[in-house]
Amino acid sequence: MNIIFFETQSWEEEYLKERLKGYSLDFSSSANPLQVGVDKGKSEADVICNFVASPVTKETLEKYPKVKYVATRSTGYDHIDVKACREKNILVSNVPTYGENTVAEFTFALILSLSRKMYPSIKRVREQGLFSADGLMGFDLKGKTLGVVGAGHIGMHVVRMAKGFEMHVVAYDPYPKAETSNEFGFEYLSLDDLLKQSDIVTLHVPYLPATHHLINDEKFKLFKKGSILINTARGGLVETESLLKALKSGVISGAAIDVLEEERYIKEDINLLYQKHPSELELKNMLADHELMQMDKVIITPHNAFNSKEAMVRILDTTIANIQAFAAGQPINLVKSPF
Ligand code: NAI
Repeated sequence: MNIIFFETQSWEEEYLKERLKGYSLDFSSSANPLQVGVDKGKSEADVICNFVASPVTKETLEKYPKVKYVATRSTGYDHIDVKACREKNILVSNVPTYGENTVAEFTFALILSLSRKMYPSIKRVREQGLFSADGLMGFDLKGKTLGVVGAGHIGMHVVRMAKGFEMHVVAYDPYPKAETSNEFGFEYLSLDDLLKQSDIVTLHVPYLPATHHLINDEKFKLFKKGSILINTARGGLVETESLLKALKSGVISGAAIDVLEEERYIKEDINLLYQKHPSELELKNMLADHELMQMDKVIITPHNAFNSKEAMVRILDTTIANIQAFAAGQPINLVKSPF
């Protein structure tokens, strides 16, 4: 079985080679399966093992005509055209969870960065050599209301951490679990009520057609004045233009974002961008992303929430188990098409 891996680092390649003996493995540090396919002609790969910046589209599948299985090393699978895969009888699996603490801890790193003005504090000392706290007053988390949108694996870990900070926690999820809200002492609300009551809103829902632009102009109108938004889930959950407007008008006082709506373009080099002909909307969003990056009240990290040593090993172990199960004819962790 030939497996092509995208977006792998050299230590991951060694780890995979050691544990997937007997398979033919091909590695590419590139994040663009289509581009690699073009370079090499049609690929002989039976399996694509990709990550969040290596989309599997209809075009990708044409370049990889023998592929029968796509194993993404991520939880989210919105970068894969699952419907196109299903039409070609190609199975798709993900890593359903690899330790919800990893993204939850990063979420708190972002919350604290904003609440205690960590970035400007560090910048002042390092870049200006100024040891002064003037203008760097933050706010306590204790007693504030945290709104968790999506109380799944990551969202629930965020809830548990927030209770450690003595925050009041509210959550929105279309599938609420009464027993967990009693156990962890939080309240389920409608999304609108959550937005009205929260000092900090944090997103932990998958990106699906139903969650596209879940936070848009209408929803920003409900945000508590001066609240902050944290997004470590997916860029497409928030309408970028609306976010810019909400920040500029002071509806929200800050945002910390690990995921951008057009992050794949920002990641790729300018030549690829020209080849791919982004739409007018995509270009508009890219410009808005660049504007966000320059705003003092915004912190942007490069889709890094998953990236801890321990999580990466857990991701690889599940991916290896996924591939072995597929090879044995008993695939696991298959994703369902959201369409
Ligand atoms: P999960 O599947 O355990 O939880 C998602 C929750 O969202 C579920 O409770 C589900 O009922 C809820 N949900 C579904 N549709 C909803 C809607 N329309 N409105 C509100 N809630 C809805 O997923 P998990 O592991 O907690 O991950 C959440 C997301 O975080 C992933 O889908 C992925 O996109 C993102 N993620 C980002 C990472 C990063 O590095 N930035 C790393 C890992 C995940």
